Amino acid sequence: TLKDIQSLKIPVVEDTRGNLAFIQNDVLPFEFKRVYYLFDVPSNSFRGSHSHINQSEVLIALSGSFEVVLNDGFEKKSFLLNKPNIGLYIPTGMWRELENFSSGAVCLVFASDIYNEDDYIRDFDQFLKSKI
Ligand code: TYD
Repeated sequence: TLKDIQSLKIPVVEDTRGNLAFIQNDVLPFEFKRVYYLFDVPSNSFRGSHSHINQSEVLIALSGSFEVVLNDGFEKKSFLLNKPNIGLYIPTGMWRELENFSSGAVCLVFASDIYNEDDYIRDFDQFLKSKI
């Protein structure tokens, strides 16, 4: 449910030469098997629009900003991601919409498993039915 959403603080080594953030497995609530990223996203574009049956993910706005609207089947909540040292943990079974991408935004995603289309629910009514 929405109560399981967490903001994760990514450790950063601050330096006048530029900051360095690092992610080791103990920072994330799961061991990741896949990393992917969204870039060159038009500002009027919507991404996501699905839930996962088993996979969980952590999203980071590496650059720029975007909004993540999460729906647990009962209520929804919007999160603004705009800091490269904050990760948004999305547990399994959450419908997500990504929108309002700023220019130059990069969304980095850590996923708990490799890509598997069978793990997706891409139909919202089917998602709602899976919650009953
Ligand atoms: P999609 O799930 O629509 O992206 P998003 O949820 O970020 O809006 O995926 C777009 C296409 O990319 C779709 O055909 C599946 C494919 N894809 C892969 O092949 N591997 C991956 O790791 C991901 C995330 C997607």
